[in-house]
Amino acid sequence: DWTMAAFREEAIAQIRAQVGDARVICGLSGGVDSSVAAVLIHEAIGEQLTCVFVDTGLMRAGEGEEVVRLFRDSYNIPLIHVEAEDLFLGKLAGVDDPEKKRKIIGALFIDVFDKEAGKIENAEFLAQGTLYPDVIESVSFDGGPSVTIKSHHNVGGLPERMNLKLVEPLRELFKDEVRALGRELGLPEHFVGRHPFPGPGLAIRIPGEVTKEKADILRKADAIYLDEIRKAGLYDAIWQAFAVLLPVRTVGVMGDERTYDHVLALRAVTSTDGMTADYYPFPHEFLGACATRIINEVRGVNRVVYDVTSKPPGTIEWE
Ligand code: XMP
Repeated sequence: DWTMAAFREEAIAQIRAQVGDARVICGLSGGVDSSVAAVLIHEAIGEQLTCVFVDTGLMRAGEGEEVVRLFRDSYNIPLIHVEAEDLFLGKLAGVDDPEKKRKIIGALFIDVFDKEAGKIENAEFLAQGTLYPDVIESVSFDGGPSVTIKSHHNVGGLPERMNLKLVEPLRELFKDEVRALGRELGLPEHFVGRHPFPGPGLAIRIPGEVTKEKADILRKADAIYLDEIRKAGLYDAIWQAFAVLLPVRTVGVMGDERTYDHVLALRAVTSTDGMTADYYPFPHEFLGACATRIINEVRGVNRVVYDVTSKPPGTIEWE
């Protein structure tokens, strides 16, 4: 891609000019944006970059391992992997309000990141995968009508607290451009094409209290749903697809046994920027096949429903 090749060269020159020979810390979320930012910055300044990946225990199946493999093994980028599942689940115990959950996760993330990053000597810069729509959204949140729909989780507040300057090489790009840049940098296609994933992770896909047991059930069901979507060749036609584990249990029958288990909701939407979205019109047979497979393979779920709400009036995530 000609434009992206040019962008890459220019961005690298800019990063070098901005950073000089200082050290840069980059928080990896496991998502596309922070990964592309990290690989680009690594190309510009090599060993001056250290990445910190906080594993909250609220990621999808296999995601933490994949990030570590990609960065340490494929790119040889220094990576601090913080395993913080117990910490996050501990602080979330007994909390069921969606905004409280978001705030707890955001604050804890900053604490953990700050502590790890503080161990890196002479760090002067914090790198973030901020995109153009994030810039716009935070402007409209500050200047527009003061209705907070959701407290978005990012590492805002970190730079001041840590006394670091920001490096944000993706600030002028939209999501599809970031993906093109990722391909240009040689990131694997399945990684670059990944659906967006929210900072607070699976915690906001488990309405009510989050527990390890529920997170494990959701991870399994979500992986089956996405596997079916990939096998049907629909993954790239969908902006985002995921499962939500509801705090409702219903009666069912398996063999000749009565069951009393969770309801799982499936969600899939099309969108260009996440600001508005339409539900994805799967064929009924597809949904039926997903439901059967999930109920057969995941203990703890005995009923599956499909969310047909668009945004607005719904939001994409349930919390
Ligand atoms: P909603 O649910 O507000 O989501 O329609 C719009 C898009 O944003 C993602 N999302 C988040 N992304 N931190 C993020 O980085 C967050 O706290 C967050 N909350 C929602 C959501 O997955 C969708 O793509």
